[in-house]
Amino acid sequence: MKNKILEKRKLAYGVHEFWIENPIVSKNAKAGQFVIFRLYENGERIPLTISAVNKDSFRVIVKAIGKSTYELCRLNKGDFILDVVGPLGMPSEVKYYGNALVIGGGVGIAAITPIVKELIKEKNNVDVILGGRSKEYIILENEFKNANNLYIVTDDGSLGEKAYPHQFMEKMIQEKNYDIIWAIGPSKMMKACSEVAKKHDIKIWVSLNSIMVDGTGMCGGCRVRIGNKLKYTCVDGPEFDGRLVDWESFEKRLNQYRKEEKIALSKYLQ
Ligand code: FES
Repeated sequence: MKNKILEKRKLAYGVHEFWIENPIVSKNAKAGQFVIFRLYENGERIPLTISAVNKDSFRVIVKAIGKSTYELCRLNKGDFILDVVGPLGMPSEVKYYGNALVIGGGVGIAAITPIVKELIKEKNNVDVILGGRSKEYIILENEFKNANNLYIVTDDGSLGEKAYPHQFMEKMIQEKNYDIIWAIGPSKMMKACSEVAKKHDIKIWVSLNSIMVDGTGMCGGCRVRIGNKLKYTCVDGPEFDGRLVDWESFEKRLNQYRKEEKIALSKYLQ
């Protein structure tokens, strides 16, 4: 049987690392791609970025925020995921750019680990900013040892500098010329970083965590507006030029089921 949970580790409050046995995903995954989990028949689809692979297994980092992610975080080593579809989506556009700045916020840090690794392989100079609400939310710090520079910022100043990622990013851009930027994290963070990148006319990749159903471009559930075009996050993304994302409509769609999600979660936790 596939999709056995080989390892589970708590990284922060409500944040868990899972290693899942699945050679098809581990052998084919590229940086930036994702999988969709389903825990049981008719269960909600949970899109998750693949944050590392080894021979026969791959890693995802899950933050318990809704009913389905709570259910997932309650699974343990030895349990199975009913369905895993993937790898899905377009890989990150990793190549030689020169100076790269990569920003990960909260659980988004998991998504930047393979991108940073690949950018270094392509001989880029890579500076990394990890951001979180407080020091407990800075995860996987040890995985960025090969970056040229690693900076940490927290909202409350409990680790690194007290700043939001986009504020620190602005400071860094003023000190050094960057050829490319990645920012992955909460949509507010990605939006703020995209505004800074736009101001300085630097291309910025963001990874959109849209609500997904089929993951194959058929249902339209994950549609986003990029420039003047309608795109599907699952097949055209999940990474897009943050300067072109219509953030207002993206956040609106992201929040459209918030009420229902809250009710489902409180019922589940009762
Ligand atoms: Fe259905 Fe993308 S998830 S079109």
